Amino acid sequence: MSARILAVEAVPKIGEEVVLKGWVNARRNMGKIVFLDLRDRSGIAQLVGVPAELDEASQEKLKEVRPEWVIEVRGLVKERGEKQKNPSMPTGTIEVLLKELIVLNTAETPPFEIDKDTKIIGEELRLKYRYLDLRSERMQRNVRSRHEMNLFLRNYLSERGFWEIETPCLTKGTPEGAREFLVPSRVHPGAFYVLPQSPQQFKQLLMVGGAEKYFQIARCFRDEDQRGDRQPEFTQLDLEMSFVEREDVMALIEAMIIALVQKLAPDKKILQTPFPRLSHAEALSKYGTDRPDLREDKNDPNELALCWVIDFPFFEKTDEGGWTFTHNPFSSPKPEHREWLMEKSHLGEIVTTQYDVVLNGFEIGGGSIRNHQSGPLQKVFEIMGFTAEQIQEQFGHMLQAFAFGAPPHGGIALGLDRLIALLNNEPNIREVIAFPKTGDARDLMMGAPSALPEKSLSEVHIRLNK
Ligand code: AMO
Repeated sequence: MSARILAVEAVPKIGEEVVLKGWVNARRNMGKIVFLDLRDRSGIAQLVGVPAELDEASQEKLKEVRPEWVIEVRGLVKERGEKQKNPSMPTGTIEVLLKELIVLNTAETPPFEIDKDTKIIGEELRLKYRYLDLRSERMQRNVRSRHEMNLFLRNYLSERGFWEIETPCLTKGTPEGAREFLVPSRVHPGAFYVLPQSPQQFKQLLMVGGAEKYFQIARCFRDEDQRGDRQPEFTQLDLEMSFVEREDVMALIEAMIIALVQKLAPDKKILQTPFPRLSHAEALSKYGTDRPDLREDKNDPNELALCWVIDFPFFEKTDEGGWTFTHNPFSSPKPEHREWLMEKSHLGEIVTTQYDVVLNGFEIGGGSIRNHQSGPLQKVFEIMGFTAEQIQEQFGHMLQAFAFGAPPHGGIALGLDRLIALLNNEPNIREVIAFPKTGDARDLMMGAPSALPEKSLSEVHIRLNK
């Protein structure tokens, strides 16, 4: 057979013979004639099987094939009669008269129907057979639009001078608020790597390293309780820039989000540009939350209400009566409050340079201008109650790096799972992640997490406390 084309590519080929390969989406037996819907990642082509047009082997296969079998066909593209045309399908103007049918693989009956929206199927079942769920039209669209988002963001930032730089996943803990996943070391008994909550420290060290404009589509790990907008591993568009002010980062992100929406979701309209800005206090007093949903019509799926929330308090009281950071310990205070930080006074009134970007009531990103000198950073940890030894032990490398001429810098990270879920009108980020975890952080398909044999544990010097 000649080269395979996709279902939609057959549309302009009326009168030509084509080869298609894909899955049987549906089979309709009309007596002598059998209709097959062939599905590939471009869509569906209607195949018409008439025994008189087929060799004997193909006739046999036509009787046998069932949904989800994988087939290869050769056939003649024909225009459908006016009454048979289906304007709601991209291939609705054509059908393919079969000349040859080969079975590439058979399939068991799937545990749920793939030719319909799988939203109505129990999620445990969908996640156990995620590879089948991914064949469905909506999931294909979600996975593909995620690819398009990543590609767009990569190009957008590359064109503006950013370098994509990978940072380690086996690293050391960093205090950013979440519990961390631990990885025992085999070579160093009793020692552990920690999976990063975000590339925060590395991206700042890249600024010390002279990269000036960094981004990464970065996997982050947080051992938190799950919610619809949270996963234990998720993806950030992480970026950092040297020699910038808060306004520079905010302007870049705002323009990038507007361009992304135009490219990926042209039917959607952004309610207000420039994005309105609310101080943390204003957001709380007006909307009772620091993630206000500013949509005018919450039933309009095409309305996008973006805003910035700024001027957060740097510190808040802990239950034990001490102080901790509200967002990011590496942020710098607003310039007018720098003295307070250095004097360790007015702790509850110090305002950080933190900026959060909120979309329809979801926090889709956050960042800040950082302390680029070791003095103020040291003060932050002192205020949080770290001893000099603890600071040295946990952050000595950052303080040391900053002592070697760290440039002023700042950045942001966008939660890409949340962003693409909202652009695709999906209520849950699991719908836009190819292989997500369940609400209780399990992978039902792979069976993770799982117990390990004694031998594997002893190799990494671990004995279980049974
Ligand atoms: P932050 O912790 O605010 O900032 O994270 C940035 C964005 O990541 C998304 N996000 C999540 N998405 C899915 N599942 C999760 N468990 C999850 N946790 C966070 C959110 C959030 O706005 N290093 C800083 C960024 C910086 O200052 O540059 C950071 O990680 O959309």
